[in-house]
Amino acid sequence: MTVPPPIVAPSILAADFSRLAEEVRAVEDAADWLHVDVMDNHFVPNLTIGLPVVQSLRAATKLPFDVHLMITDPKRWAPGYADAGAYNVTFHAEACDDPVALARDLRAAGAKAGLAIDRDTPIEPYLDLLPSFDTLLVMTIKAGFGGQRFLPQLLDKVRTARRHVDAGHLELRIEVDGGIAADTIEQAAAAGADAFVAGTAVYGADDPAEAVRRLRGLAERAAAGA
Ligand code: DX5
Ligand code: ZN
Repeated sequence: MTVPPPIVAPSILAADFSRLAEEVRAVEDAADWLHVDVMDNHFVPNLTIGLPVVQSLRAATKLPFDVHLMITDPKRWAPGYADAGAYNVTFHAEACDDPVALARDLRAAGAKAGLAIDRDTPIEPYLDLLPSFDTLLVMTIKAGFGGQRFLPQLLDKVRTARRHVDAGHLELRIEVDGGIAADTIEQAAAAGADAFVAGTAVYGADDPAEAVRRLRGLAERAAAGA
């Protein structure tokens, strides 16, 4: 089975929030998706941005939005992001009683549907739900903050998901989020990830666009050798 070309999604969590549009434009020609972390200070102990900012930002770039909802009650809020033009809306398995129903709502609203699995959540109970989803986001840190150290043991979940996706011929992106940088992206790609979120590694670099291209090159090479 051939893995599709890797997606690199810079996370604006690591950008300068006072200059968001400019920061997004800095990666416009290099990135595949723009990763937007929505945190509500309930599901995670951090607070970022919500729908009004996403709506404003939507007009400032052509990049597809990969919205990562780290919020409680995603059933109530997630479809609003699809309505705002998000390309993919990912919510957390831990926050939702009926993930398949919410995935259906998101697809009906015109978005792709993503399921996120946090650090302490096993993947096995969710494997049979994957045909209802377009993306599976495996956290490689504990969700909540950027700049944390990558946890390589969480790649076992990526390997399990990759085997399941390939065996079932599912059309699903396996995305990793947390601590993805030049020194970690190759192991994530070799484990079977094909979409990579990077905050600090992109916006902490002198040239964010160049950092995106470099990460994609490393992922491509590792996937080819995997
Ligand atoms: C954290 C967010 C990540 C964050 C990753 O919960 O979901 O998207 O921006 O940041 P880095 O790449 O710095 O680990
Ligand atoms: Zn994220």
